[in-house]
Amino acid sequence: MHYRREQPGDRPAVRQLHLQAFDEHGRAVADLVEDLRARVSAGHGLSLLAETDGTVVGHLVLTDALLDAPRRLVSVRVLSPLAVLPTVQRRGIGRALVAAALQHDSTRAVPLVFLEGDPGYYARLGFQPGAQHGLRRPSLRIPEAAFQVFLLPAYEPWMTGTLVYPEVFWRHDAVGLRRPGT
Ligand SMILES: CC(C)(COP(=O)(O)OP(=O)(O)OC[C@H]1O[C@@H](n2cnc3c(N)ncnc32)[C@H](O)[C@@H]1OP(=O)(O)O)[C@@H](O)C(=O)NCCC(=O)NCCS
Repeated sequence: MHYRREQPGDRPAVRQLHLQAFDEHGRAVADLVEDLRARVSAGHGLSLLAETDGTVVGHLVLTDALLDAPRRLVSVRVLSPLAVLPTVQRRGIGRALVAAALQHDSTRAVPLVFLEGDPGYYARLGFQPGAQHGLRRPSLRIPEAAFQVFLLPAYEPWMTGTLVYPEVFWRHDAVGLRRPGT
């Protein structure tokens, strides 16, 4: 398994990966990824691939976001989306890809990485409930247990407050869970 930054030529394979991994949500996620690339290209994130024998089998994006802490705004990152090709899931690729992103050179100065996801999966990767560290979700539509954070070496305990998602996630309505009709 090889982990590397996404290159322009990888775009079709990455799109296919999300279409397959996210089923009926695949198109929405793939479209989000297209727009996240603009931020990554401008130096505000990381788009990382897992590749084996020339085939893209996993992909994730880390995007810069803000933590509205009492002392000052802090540059943090949001991990979204993460996907592994359905035919090779449950082989540790997702776990290894997340670990590679958290250890990546470009993540060294980052104190906190946030995500929304199943705590049953992400707790095993070292993520913790954000609320335990005085961290607040950017929307009440994110279930409290799903709002998780990974503390990196640059983290300091004064870094509390509300996570502010970049505008691109709002534009794609990709924050929390919508419940039409409620
Ligand atoms: C979630 C995902 C990235 C995990 O990747 P992966 O390479 O299969 O995960 P790993 O092999 O590192 O971990 C496997 C373990 O995680 C759990 N797991 C994996 N996929 C899971 C899923 N879809 N739902 C719940 N638990 C899952 C399993 O318990 C598994 O452990 P087991 O093999 O002992 O049963 C992958 O399943 C995927 O792409 N899913 C569709 C897209 C998605 O939901 N992305 C996450 C959005 S937050």
